[in-house]
Amino acid sequence: MTFSDAEKAAIVSIWGKVAGHTDELGAEALERLFLSYPQTKTYFSHFNLSHGSQDLRSHGGKVLNAIGSAASHLDDLSGALSTLSDLHAYQLRVDPGNFRLLSHSIQVTLGSRHGTGTAEMGETQPTKCRAVRGVSTSKDAEKAAIVSIWGKVAGHTDELGAEALERLFLSYPQTKTYFSHFNLSHGSQDLRSHGGKVLNAIGSAASHLDDLSGALSTLSDLHAYQLRVDPGNFRLLSHSIQVTLAAHFGAEFTPTAQSAWDKFLAAVSAVLVSKYR
Ligand code: HEM
Ligand code: HEM
Repeated sequence: MTFSDAEKAAIVSIWGKVAGHTDELGAEALERLFLSYPQTKTYFSHFNLSHGSQDLRSHGGKVLNAIGSAASHLDDLSGALSTLSDLHAYQLRVDPGNFRLLSHSIQVTLGSRHGTGTAEMGETQPTKCRAVRGVSTSKDAEKAAIVSIWGKVAGHTDELGAEALERLFLSYPQTKTYFSHFNLSHGSQDLRSHGGKVLNAIGSAASHLDDLSGALSTLSDLHAYQLRVDPGNFRLLSHSIQVTLAAHFGAEFTPTAQSAWDKFLAAVSAVLVSKYR
């Protein structure tokens, strides 16, 4: 894997803000991981995973420091991570899919702490993959978190939607294939207009949490029968939206709120891909 000079500068610059706070930020990333994707807890049955625990801080610090060490060996990641690679593959046998979940949790953590809505938060890693669960049985707290964050988004849908799309297209250029008729450059009217439509559809879904299928029926037809968007892309967009929310509403986009939003966006995506076959 090679990095451009601009990518290297972005990685090193953000790392400079993380260094010195690795225990705290690492604990937050792990808490987001375990709350949104409880299946990852299976590897940590010997840890106290409750909020603020010393185990979370200590292990979170180790993980982020390893990433920091990698950030200073961008031209030789295999060498720098060789011992850890042996550990995870031969001893821990962590399922590879979990790495995307952790990458996502780290990116949301960085967004929530250091995001300013600027290009600083360009993402460089792949995203999550999770089992889709409906929100029809959501606890009231989850619904409240979804509605509360939506209240902050509404009124800024063009701006935030454009940012989510920009993050999507930059981190996952393959998604641009569906938008060859759009001007995808930074700040374009197409990005704002389409981003606004996407977020408003999500807002409408947020007020129909008990009937997502009904609320999204027309959009589901559109994406399945006309656009034929590959289902894998929905995970990428959900990730980009979450990083955008974290970058703008970091204080409110807590691990618990993120977990509710992740579940919500997975459920919205499930409806939009439900008619493919
Ligand atoms: C960016 C990806 C990751 C990095 C940089 C990373 C880094 C580390 C580091 C530095 C250690 C401590 C090694 C030592 O004590 O010598 C560790 C241990 C461990 N990692 Fe990872 N890790 C990553 C992903 C994961 C994932 C996705 C999982 C599972 C969900 C996982 C599960 C574990 C477990 C169970 C341990 C042992 C914990 C203990 O008993 O102390 N790691 N990892
Ligand atoms: C949370 C998931 C998504 C939501 C809520 C959503 C929502 C929407 C909405 C509201 C529209 C406009 C429909 C209209 O004009 O009547 C639309 C169109 C479209 N969507 Fe999605 N979408 C999602 C995911 C995706 C993904 C992952 C892709 C591909 C990467 C995609 C590609 C498109 C395309 C190509 C159009 C047509 C754009 C145009 O020519 O105007 N959508 N979507």
